[in-house]
Amino acid sequence: MNRKKNMLELEERLEQLNPVEGLTLLADLFSGKVVFSTSLGQEDQVITQMIASQNLPIRIFSFDTGRLFPETLDLLARTESKYKTKIQVYYPNTSAVENWVQEHGINGFYESVENRKSCCYVRKVEPLKRALAGNEVWVTGLRAEQSPNRSAMKRIEWDEANQILKYNPLLDWTYEQMIQYLNENNIPYNPLHDRGFISIGCAPCTRALLPGEDARAGRWWWEESKKECGLHSR
Ligand code: ADX
Ligand code: SF4
Repeated sequence: MNRKKNMLELEERLEQLNPVEGLTLLADLFSGKVVFSTSLGQEDQVITQMIASQNLPIRIFSFDTGRLFPETLDLLARTESKYKTKIQVYYPNTSAVENWVQEHGINGFYESVENRKSCCYVRKVEPLKRALAGNEVWVTGLRAEQSPNRSAMKRIEWDEANQILKYNPLLDWTYEQMIQYLNENNIPYNPLHDRGFISIGCAPCTRALLPGEDARAGRWWWEESKKECGLHSR
């Protein structure tokens, strides 16, 4: 098979489809091999509702890093119960976390970008490899507006690092469009959004936004880095 040509054809087909239609097409083309990663963020809640309401055969998973806000875990439980669906939770490798903490200290991620990235690796990137193994399509809630790195992404692209097709159905959605969809469909959301948080990750690494700050300013706020954890590096 000519992967480049197939990718172009798939790209063109998906261009004509809305997110639900796109998810349906991929679930059909790659039967049993489409998975969706949710951080329980607003974008991800939209996609979970789409998958659940259409009963699409797409497995949903999430990483419990061990440092999430309790509000995020409560939302996971509420979402499972509202949509009568199961979100598969992945945990970091126990000895990898123990070794990391032993070496760097419980909050050692504040000390350097290198430490922070290695913590994200142990708690998210390694579990991602396990979650994606054996699958063909990885669905995410990335939106182009979120950062310059993300604005260069495509709706469907080949993820070299994970050797998988990556589908970002909400890539072109605006923040306002997403909020409208959440409200119209009465989708459960993290109460931290009502307290000034937009992008929410681990508790020690996320703060509320100050007026005028961009959406990802509250993530790893002490860093000047590109603010990616390694899940979506390109
Ligand atoms: S991150 O790379 O900065 O952590 P962000 O929070 O913006 O990512 O979320 C972008 C996408 O990454 C989400 O839509 C989701 O697909 C995936 N993701 C991020 N965090 C998690 C998590 N804890 N569990 C599962 N997927 C996640
Ligand atoms: Fe570790 Fe912070 Fe990355 Fe979470 S966001 S995995 S606590 S460095």
